[in-house]
Amino acid sequence: MVYDMYKPSEMSILMNDMYAYNLKIKQAILEGETPTEFPSNFLNIYTAELSEFKSRNEVFQGFSTLFIETQKEVFNPNATLSITERYNNSINLCISCHTKECTGPIPKIKKLLIK
Ligand code: HEC
Repeated sequence: MVYDMYKPSEMSILMNDMYAYNLKIKQAILEGETPTEFPSNFLNIYTAELSEFKSRNEVFQGFSTLFIETQKEVFNPNATLSITERYNNSINLCISCHTKECTGPIPKIKKLLIK
C-alpha cells in the first residue's frame, strides 16, 4: 500500500468527530440543556486505526476505557455530580491521554472546558 501523508487516520477522523460533538454538548449545557444520547461511534476509540508510528499500548487502552466511562457519565440521568462537572471530567480525560500520546491538540481541547 502506498502511504498517502495527507490521508487522515481513522483515529484522526474519530478525534475530530469527538471534538465537534463535545463542542455541541458544551453549547447545549451553556444553554441549560441536558444532553441525553451517548454517541455510540465513540466506542470506535478501541478499534480505530492510528496513524503510522503510533501504537495502541496499555496506557492508550487504559485512557480509552477511562475516557469512555467519563463520557458516558455525561449522559447518565441518575448521576449525582452536576452536568458541568461530568462534562469537564470527560474533557480532562481527553487531555490526560493527550499528555501521554499526542500533545499537539491540547490547547484546542482545553477550549472545550466550561470555565
Ligand atoms: C486514549 C487516548 C486519547 C483520548 C482519550 C483522546 N485522544 Fe485525541 N488523540 C489521541 C491520539 C493518539 C491522536 C492521534 C491520532 C492519530 O494520529 O492517528 C489524537 C488526535 C486528536 C486530535 C487531532 C486529530 C487530527 O486532526 O489529526 C484532536 C483534535 C483530538 N485528538 C481531540 C480529542 C478530544 C476532543 C478528545 C476527548 C473528547 C480526545 N481527543 C480524546 C489520543 C486520545
